Amino acid sequence: MSEVVACGYIGLTCGDLEEWRQFAGHLGMQVSGQSSGEKLLLRMDERAYRIAVTPGEKGVQYVGWEVPNAAALERLRGRLAAAGVETDADDAVAKERGVEALVRCLDPGGNQLEFFYGARIPADSFVSPNGTSFVTSDRGPGDLGFGHVVVTFEDYEAARKFYMDTLGFRVSDICLLPDPWMFAHVNPRHHSLAFGPVPGPSTYHHFMLEVESIDMVGLAFDRMTKAGVPIATTLGKHTNDHMVSFYVHTPSGLEVEYGCAGRKIDDAAWSSTTYDSPSLWGHHPLGASAA
Ligand SMILES: [Fe+2]
Repeated sequence: MSEVVACGYIGLTCGDLEEWRQFAGHLGMQVSGQSSGEKLLLRMDERAYRIAVTPGEKGVQYVGWEVPNAAALERLRGRLAAAGVETDADDAVAKERGVEALVRCLDPGGNQLEFFYGARIPADSFVSPNGTSFVTSDRGPGDLGFGHVVVTFEDYEAARKFYMDTLGFRVSDICLLPDPWMFAHVNPRHHSLAFGPVPGPSTYHHFMLEVESIDMVGLAFDRMTKAGVPIATTLGKHTNDHMVSFYVHTPSGLEVEYGCAGRKIDDAAWSSTTYDSPSLWGHHPLGASAA
């Protein structure tokens, strides 16, 4: 079993924080009062933030993977060292992220990962600007993480070894696109990570946010189309996690999948399978690619 229990936070960059501030409203996320002109902190549950946006060239700066406590972080660091993965632990970065401690490393695509525990819970509750409720909890508060991330690797086998063998993520299923893409879970959320082989630099294709109802998905779609936000795909339903969702371009370059009704995995009763197609219906590109 993996020490990692959730996809905890994501750090994004973009040229114009104001653009993200408006986009966050369309998503139904709350801009934290702890935000500054140099950092936008976006909330979707009791955590101080789940998305942090700082100025820079569009992209993903880091992904924070949560472990339950200090002992698990130590074990994970040992596991990485045994696999020959270099790590560092920076107290100043942990403080900046609002966590007790973190250990950083690069994955085989050169993406910065931060394994952390002890995320801060502020006194003030999450309040969505438009009544949106996000799904981040199953058996305990926030135990499903903020959603999932999907990333490409030139060297698929190196990525598979790192995430599945070294970190111990568990196979949910494989989807043929037509190359095999791995969908992996670390908690009951169907997948917290998916990755597949694509030539060139490793790139995050999208992250996913799950809301509580199809009405919340439709209302977000209406807010975005009304505001002229570039939608990437039509509404659709995925074969493997049953998520009903659409994809939209974020101000950080990657897309966000916005959906509801994702199914959960019970490890005691789950057999992995292989899907020939990613969607039962929909998810048709609107002048852009989607996966
Ligand atoms: Fe997705």
